[in-house]
Amino acid sequence: MPVTTSLPWEALAALPETYLTAQGALDALGVARGERLLIRGGTSSVGMAAASIAAALGAETAATTRRRHKAAALVADHVLVDEGGPLTIEAWPEGPDHVLDLVGTSTVLDSLRLVRRGGTVCVAGSLSGWLIPAFEPIAMIPTGTRLTAFHSDTVRGAAGAAVLQRVVDQVEARVLHPHVDRVFSLDDVAEAHRYLEDDQATGKVVLVP
Ligand SMILES: NC(=O)c1ccc[n+]([C@@H]2O[C@H](COP(=O)([O-])OP(=O)(O)OC[C@H]3O[C@@H](n4cnc5c(N)ncnc54)[C@H](OP(=O)(O)O)[C@@H]3O)[C@@H](O)[C@H]2O)c1
Repeated sequence: MPVTTSLPWEALAALPETYLTAQGALDALGVARGERLLIRGGTSSVGMAAASIAAALGAETAATTRRRHKAAALVADHVLVDEGGPLTIEAWPEGPDHVLDLVGTSTVLDSLRLVRRGGTVCVAGSLSGWLIPAFEPIAMIPTGTRLTAFHSDTVRGAAGAAVLQRVVDQVEARVLHPHVDRVFSLDDVAEAHRYLEDDQATGKVVLVP
């Protein structure tokens, strides 16, 4: 995807897959100014990108992490520690308007329960696995609630390049604030993988030559 930019490599490298996915998922949800968006998997790169885009849109955000010590790194309006059971959002007793679920199969049924009636859940991540055992749509999707998904393969070619250029322009204009957690040298790629696989990162990890 060709883009015109003056961003340094460290900043540019953190954008394509991550921001295209976050942007595409928020477009699928139709998030608008003043609406409430819950992001499950908030410390993931895609989750942090989604929080940045949603803030620029004027949406109110809540984001989850499983680890209390990572909460300070989240830039959402409401930070929630997900301890594995049903999630409660005290600030939103009637539920969020939208849920971007990046944790995926272990949380999507709870997201469907949590979202306000008529709201939408978009599954764009599979951090917890791929399959929902014994999925019964009629019993598990509340009437009027919408369930959708996003796959970045749907924003390739010229359409994808246009979205990416818009993201790059907004980063240059400081409308979006990408979060790069750490930059490793390519020589330290094994250490970078260990860092990611141990779930230590909060946001994007970039390799430089
Ligand atoms: N739909 C698409 O086209 C598309 C495109 C790109 C990525 N993705 C997917 O989006 C998800 C996020 O990708 P990413 O690269 O942003 O991830 P990432 O930055 O590697 O996310 C890592 C974080 O995810 C959380 N996590 C890991 N395993 C988890 C689990 N079992 N349950 C709950 N949280 C867990 C951890 O946060 P805490 O320790 O803070 O809880 C961890 O720090 C992935 O599933 C990826 O495959 C989808």
